[in-house]
Amino acid sequence: MSILLTGGAGYIATHTLISLLENGYEAVTLDDYDNSSPEALRRVRQLTGKEFAVIEGDAQDRELLVRTILDYNVDGIIHFAGHKAVGESVAKPLKYYRNNLTSTIAVLEAMQQTGVRDLIFSSSAAVYAGDNQMPLTESSRRECINPYGWTKYMSEQIIRDAAKANPEFSCVLLRYFNPVGAHPSGMIGEDPSDVPNNLMPYICQTAVGLRERLTVFGSDYRTHDGTGVRDYLHVCDLADGHVKALEYAASHSGCEAFNLGTGTGYSVLDMVKAFEKVNGVKIPYVIGPRRPGDLDECYADPSKAEKLLGWKAKRGIEEMVRDGWNWQKKNPRGYRE
Ligand code: UFG
Repeated sequence: MSILLTGGAGYIATHTLISLLENGYEAVTLDDYDNSSPEALRRVRQLTGKEFAVIEGDAQDRELLVRTILDYNVDGIIHFAGHKAVGESVAKPLKYYRNNLTSTIAVLEAMQQTGVRDLIFSSSAAVYAGDNQMPLTESSRRECINPYGWTKYMSEQIIRDAAKANPEFSCVLLRYFNPVGAHPSGMIGEDPSDVPNNLMPYICQTAVGLRERLTVFGSDYRTHDGTGVRDYLHVCDLADGHVKALEYAASHSGCEAFNLGTGTGYSVLDMVKAFEKVNGVKIPYVIGPRRPGDLDECYADPSKAEKLLGWKAKRGIEEMVRDGWNWQKKNPRGYRE
């Protein structure tokens, strides 16, 4: 089986690439390195000792997708490519709608044109409305609060409609919760190009001295310690979820959505304390105001993925903070060294 990974040099994609290669898949990556580095792919090669094809280009380019599929006998696609900064999506909504929706449509058209039937799509817990009861199930109400979330919501709808019109298609929508950590080797990990928006990279950069202190966004949420609660999951568990999704797609048709989370919520201060305890480093922090749009808590009911995909997160909070720190301390400036 040969799998095309759009956005293949990104954080979740490179970890998935390792899982695929270790499970006997062949792979080809397509990335324009707009927000990623070819160095990440060089390291995957070094780490796995396996070869895979690397194409530089844009996932919006349907002709390039078709050519790549034909040249490399691609059997299935994992569509990771997309802009992902929530704040930027509010300031530049059209950039997000154009890029994220055009690439999804291009991938589906290329599938139609070449006869590829299996698609795994990187969706997000951002598709769920803020007024749902926790934990979130796949049928919880969906509504978004920023353009980034809407691009995932709309891409899901486009894929669902395409699957209805092409009964041979088999599409899996994976709704990621909060991926953190890194490969245990410390050779690949998350490498934000700017000041990190997300909690874990911010904690890691504070620990390594790139940031002075963490600002905890709000301490008056309705949670056990007042700080926001999220469903953090180890990126290697998330990567394995893609392999399970491909197996599922190969033996089904239609379109199915799955939550990929652990089902356990941790607060911002839980994460800070676990990081300090496991790694023996201090994280200076101050309590600041709430960040607009943030919820009290957000965590998954991952039982559908366990039942139908046979997937369950195996790694706990200790491994998440240990591996995240191992990556950061070995690569203080990410892939830029
Ligand atoms: N937080 C801080 N300080 C920081 C950064 C984050 O206190 O410097 C807090 C947030 O307020 C929140 C928690 O840490 O309570 C997690 O924040 P993240 O930004 O790491 O993650 P979010 O849950 O806000 O966002 C994530 C993904 C988005 C996705 C969303 C959907 O990053 O892409 O989940 O659930 F849209």
